Amino acid sequence: MKKVITYGTYDLLHFGHIRLLERARALGDYLIVGVTSDDFDISRGKINVQQSLMERIEAVRATGLADEIVIEQYEGQKIDDIQKYGIDIFTVGSDWVGVFDYLKEYCQVVYLDRTQGVSSTEIRSKENALRFGLVGDTDVINKFALECRNVNGTAVVGYLTLNPELSKDGLENATAYDSFEALVSDTDALYIRSHPTKHYDQIKYALQQHKHVLYESPLTLCHAQAEELFRLADQNGCILYAGIKTAYSTAYARMILMAKTGKIGDIVSIDAVCTSLQDDLTKKEMQHTWNSITAWGPTAMLPVYQLLGTECQEKHIVSRLLDGHHRFDTFTKIDWTYPHAVATIKVGKGVKAEGQLIIGGTKGYIYVPAPWWKTDYFEVRAENQSQNKRFFYQLEGEGIPGMIASFVKSVTRNKLAYIGEKISLEIVRTMEEWHSGRFTSI
Ligand code: CTP
Repeated sequence: MKKVITYGTYDLLHFGHIRLLERARALGDYLIVGVTSDDFDISRGKINVQQSLMERIEAVRATGLADEIVIEQYEGQKIDDIQKYGIDIFTVGSDWVGVFDYLKEYCQVVYLDRTQGVSSTEIRSKENALRFGLVGDTDVINKFALECRNVNGTAVVGYLTLNPELSKDGLENATAYDSFEALVSDTDALYIRSHPTKHYDQIKYALQQHKHVLYESPLTLCHAQAEELFRLADQNGCILYAGIKTAYSTAYARMILMAKTGKIGDIVSIDAVCTSLQDDLTKKEMQHTWNSITAWGPTAMLPVYQLLGTECQEKHIVSRLLDGHHRFDTFTKIDWTYPHAVATIKVGKGVKAEGQLIIGGTKGYIYVPAPWWKTDYFEVRAENQSQNKRFFYQLEGEGIPGMIASFVKSVTRNKLAYIGEKISLEIVRTMEEWHSGRFTSI
């Protein structure tokens, strides 16, 4: 019996895939199809595959062309599979000519002509084509625009900034707007990275116009306003999505899941530190610059609220203010007491400390080295060092492409919320406390 194997993502299964499978099957008597796992696709740079692994497997199964389906999970697995299943022929489309010649050592390699004029990338682009408008004053806007190019089905059509010196990187094909209303009218979705004091008015307007919004957290500085925005998004069928990029890094997401499954026992303490230094600010600049609590607070609070929940018993905030300026903290420390756990975050823009995250539990602890907000690596440590485990997951574009892809999927397919509404609202509540002066000043 001649055994044939072929691999692919098979996202949004199309005619080109079916023709490939038919011809692969005709090469032998038994066809094995390897479908890529989500992680494997992410690790090789395919970040916005629309369908889940199970959906893609089901689609391949439904063609009736595969005798067996396997999941491709790691680099080099093809060699393993060929040996394990006793494969005679390895085949893929001609877009891969030459790439798999190294397999000739193990079996026959056949490149089949690719069907012209159809690809998953093209279907994704046509399906989604989400037109983004960007609002903000720092190079985060440029990074966002550049990363959009890696997420097919998105286009940055325009931007609005108060910063006349904002570079054009990534924005070469976008129009500079001077009216927010005009930008909203010309786009499907907004990425709002303006100063948090402007978020409420801008996001409310965008939602009223039935536009989707990805905002840089915090949503607003007032809890009642944030609730109103979530209600409005719901009423108007819009996605209102928190853009804390750390949340979209694979390593961070896996680390949170691992902590939740009890790997380190009951969680008893969380310590998160996020700091950066910045040049001296004039009083005027301070009005436009994000202070420590708004710039770093949402990221630092994320693991606290994700792991311990939003119902704490006590919260205490201490801040060091810049020259007694009540709007700008160079450093803030927040302590939470929960019924069975405690948490502390330290955030600073003007004070530097080791930016690590430590989650302590009754059976061990999780350690994420600095800078933990760009997580690609973490360790689960036990009392007995030989039981320590290390985990690494490639971080793409600081989490920005994953964040955009997740938002796009939410808009076009089904609503996913990596950061739930409850957590977003609790972040705002803490912001409101600080901005209404409920902290001890040092
Ligand atoms: N294939 C083909 N003809 C096409 C598209 C794909 O023969 N028009 C083949 C590929 O060469 C590969 C298999 O189908 O052997 C699975 O391809 P996959 O990468 O899943 O599909 P694409 O449509 O190429 O996906 P993408 O656009 O995401 O790269």
